[in-house]
Amino acid sequence: MSRAVIYERFGGPEVLELRDVPEPHAGPGEVRVRVAAAGLNPMDWVFASQPEAAARFGISVPSGFGYDFAGVVDEVGEGGEIGEGGEIGDSVTGFAVGDRVFGGALGAAADFLVIKTPTAPSAALFHTPDGISDEVASTLPVAGLTAAAALAAIDLRSGDTVLIGGAAGGVGVFAVQLAKLAGATVVGTASPETFEFLRKFAVEPITYGPGLADRVRALTGDGGGVTAATDLFGTETAETALALGIAPERISTIAAGPNPPGGVRATGGLDAGPDAMRQITDAILAGEITVPIAAAFPIEQIREAVTLQSGRHVHGKVVVTP
Ligand SMILES: NC(=O)c1ccc[n+]([C@@H]2O[C@H](COP(=O)([O-])OP(=O)(O)OC[C@H]3O[C@@H](n4cnc5c(N)ncnc54)[C@H](OP(=O)(O)O)[C@@H]3O)[C@@H](O)[C@H]2O)c1
Repeated sequence: MSRAVIYERFGGPEVLELRDVPEPHAGPGEVRVRVAAAGLNPMDWVFASQPEAAARFGISVPSGFGYDFAGVVDEVGEGGEIGEGGEIGDSVTGFAVGDRVFGGALGAAADFLVIKTPTAPSAALFHTPDGISDEVASTLPVAGLTAAAALAAIDLRSGDTVLIGGAAGGVGVFAVQLAKLAGATVVGTASPETFEFLRKFAVEPITYGPGLADRVRALTGDGGGVTAATDLFGTETAETALALGIAPERISTIAAGPNPPGGVRATGGLDAGPDAMRQITDAILAGEITVPIAAAFPIEQIREAVTLQSGRHVHGKVVVTP
């Protein structure tokens, strides 16, 4: 037997159950991963609590929980050493038992995960570089690639001053560091209790909420001083950037829903460029990006982990370990 977090009805953390399930095995064209860490994202509890959101992604109950994972390949099915490059980079170059891997697939909060289609972007599988821990690797697929896509969508470049909304969250911690690496000055929204955390990343913190445009003007000079923006939390930052006169093509959103304001660019992790993950892992290995793990929970405490994550005041990432 093995264990997996599943939910049989939609709801809050209370619907999540760590169950004994039959041990899955890799079939033809599949690899099995012994999961060592699963990074949480808002989409995990959104799917578990919102049937309409789940349905949009073809998810129905009962369902496995979680998406981002890292671990070790411990079974390779016939033809499972899939060798063609995936749409996300050239990391899909074949897998063997014992390989350290990370990626994304529904049901990651489990002892074992069978990856059916490693070349599909929704189930990307990467080799974990030596020097990157499983915990850190398990935070990278959704948040890292989404941050990269959010900055690429606005063509962020050296000399920009970028306003980042929700700068301290799971996506934010990658976005602010990637923006600094690109040579931008970063102004990031957060609550005052989070300012010191953001300053460690050389981010100029600013309080979110009503009056944001005035505070940005006061901080960066009249006319805004801000040249680009990315909104990682709703629409407030995008609307503020429009009010500051920033062109819509230099404003991106990842969490505005289907109708982002004023023609700004809606994007997400699936839009990340082919080299995005390689750039992130190289920067981590070079010490240029650090990944703050706000909390790590044993999988038995999945409800506590999700309660913390869904509170929306996490700084960095939350991880569960089987
Ligand atoms: N489109 C995609 O592909 C994609 C991919 C990943 C995520 N997303 C979406 O993007 C959003 C961010 O994801 P995430 O993982 O970064 O979330 P997260 O980790 O839950 O974000 C937490 C952060 O949000 C900040 N925050 C709380 N209330 C805020 C407000 N009113 N205005 C601005 N910031 C606020 C908090 O700062 P304080 O603690 O200082 O309050 C905290 O640091 C989610 O809605 C997620 O579903 C979309």
